[in-house]
Amino acid sequence: MEQEKRGQWGSNFGFLMAAIGSAVGLGNIWGFPYKMGANGGFAFLVVYLFLVVFVGFAIMLGELALGRKTGMGVVGTYKTLSKKFAWVGWIGFLSGFFILSFYSVLGGYTLRYSLGFILELLSSGTGFGGMGSGEFFGSLIVSGGTNLLYHAIFMSLTISIVMGGISGGIERFTKVAMPALFIMLLIVIIRSLTLEGSMVGVEFMLAPNFSAFSEIGFMRVLKTAAGQMFFSLSLGMGCMITYGSYLSKHENLEKNAMIIPIADSIFAICAGLAVMPAVGAFMYQGVEGISFGQGPGLLFVTLHQVFSVGMGGFVGNLFGFLFYFLVFIAAITSAISLLEVCAAFFIDRRVEKGLDPDRKKLTIVVGFIVFLVGVLVCLDGLGSGVAGGAAIDPPGVMFGMKDIRVAFGSWLDFYDMIAEGIFMPLGAILMSVLIGWVLGTNVVKEEVELTPDVQLKAYKFWEICFKFIVPIGMCFVLMGQLDDFFGLGIF
Ligand code: TRP
Repeated sequence: MEQEKRGQWGSNFGFLMAAIGSAVGLGNIWGFPYKMGANGGFAFLVVYLFLVVFVGFAIMLGELALGRKTGMGVVGTYKTLSKKFAWVGWIGFLSGFFILSFYSVLGGYTLRYSLGFILELLSSGTGFGGMGSGEFFGSLIVSGGTNLLYHAIFMSLTISIVMGGISGGIERFTKVAMPALFIMLLIVIIRSLTLEGSMVGVEFMLAPNFSAFSEIGFMRVLKTAAGQMFFSLSLGMGCMITYGSYLSKHENLEKNAMIIPIADSIFAICAGLAVMPAVGAFMYQGVEGISFGQGPGLLFVTLHQVFSVGMGGFVGNLFGFLFYFLVFIAAITSAISLLEVCAAFFIDRRVEKGLDPDRKKLTIVVGFIVFLVGVLVCLDGLGSGVAGGAAIDPPGVMFGMKDIRVAFGSWLDFYDMIAEGIFMPLGAILMSVLIGWVLGTNVVKEEVELTPDVQLKAYKFWEICFKFIVPIGMCFVLMGQLDDFFGLGIF
C-alpha cells in the first residue's frame, strides 16, 4: 500500500534509464574530459576504470540494496536501519540540495548556449552578441539577470518532470531522453573523429602513456580520478538509495549495480571521444585558444571556440547546438534525481502518516527553495570566473556574507565544498562501514536474494569492498577534497 502511494518504476529498463540518466551528467561531459585533459589522458582513464570496479560497483550495490530494503528515501532509510546512523541521511539530503542549487545554474548555461547556436544558425552574430568565446563566457557569468532567468527555466523544467512521479514523470522522460542523448553523442563523435588532425586527441586519450604518474604524481591522478568517479556515478548522497527504493523485488540488484557504472563509464569515454578529437584537431590546425588541459573552461570556452571558430559557419552552429543541447539533456536527467532525493523525504513523511503524498505541491515547494539557494550562485559571477581568463570583478557584498564567498572563491565553490568535498565522501564512508561492520554484508545478500532464483554471485568480493576498499578509498577521496578546497598541500 505504501509503495503504491510512493510510486514504482514501470520496468527495469525504465529504472536503468533513470539511474543512468542520473549518473550521466555534467560530470561526464564536462568534468571527465577536462580532468582527463589535465591529468595525463590515458593514465587517468586507467586509474578511473580501476576505481569504478573496486569502489564504484560496491557503493552502487550498497545504496540500491539499502533503498530497496527499506522502501524509503535517504533520510528514512538510514533512520530505519540504525538510530546511530540517522544523521547520515540528513547529510545526503543536504548534499542533494546544495548540488542541485548550483547544478541548475550550470544547466541554465547549457540552455543559453543551445539557444545561442540556434540564433546563430538563423542570423550570424545574434546568438552570442558577436563576442568571442572567452569574452562571451566572461560576460555571461556576470550577467546576474540572465543567469537567474536560465536558472529559473532549468529548475522549472526539472520540477515539471519530477512532479509527474516516478513512472509517469521521471521514467517517462528518461526513457526517451537517454537513448536520444546517446544518438546525439554518436553523431558528434563521428563529426569530431572525421576532422583533420583528430587523431592527436584520440592518441592523447587512448595511447598507453603513464608519464603523468611521474610528472603530475600518481597520488594526484588517483585523487582526482577518485573524486570524479563517485560524483559521476551519483554516489555518496543517497541518490541511488532513493532510486532503489522504487525498484520491485523482482529485479536483479547485483546486475543493475554493475550495468549503471559500466554505462556511465561508456558515456564518459564517449564524451571524451566527442571532445578530445575536436580539441586535438583544432590544436593541430593551430586555431587560437584551444588546448587539452584548459581546465574547467573546456566546456564553455574551448568548445565554444571549437564550434564557432574551428568548425565555423552553418556546420559549426548546427553541431554547436546539437552538442550543447545534448549536454542540457544530460544535465536535466541528473538534476531530476537530485530533486527527487529532496522531494522523497517530504513525500515519505506524509506517506508514513497515512496522508496523501501530495507530490506535486511538495515538489514545487522544494524546487522553489532550491531555486532560491541557487540565486546566490547566479549573482556572484562565479567568483573570479572559471574561464581562467581575465579576473572578473564580482558585484558587491551579498547579504553581508562576503567573507564566506571570498574564502571559497564563489558560492558555487562553497556549496560544492560542503556537498562534494565533505558530506558525500563522508556519506559513502559511513554507508560502507554500516554495511561492512555494523549490519554485516549479509543485509545486501539477503536483499539481493529476495529476487526469485537470484543468488549474490560475488559475496566475498563485495565483503572485501565494503569492509576495506571502499572506506579506505573514500577516506582518501575525503582527504583529497579537503586538500583541494583548503589548499592543504597534502598531495
Ligand atoms: N552524476 C551526475 C553528473 O555526473 C551528477 C549527480 C546527479 C550527482 N545526482 C547526483 C552527483 C548525486 C552526486 C550525487 O553530473
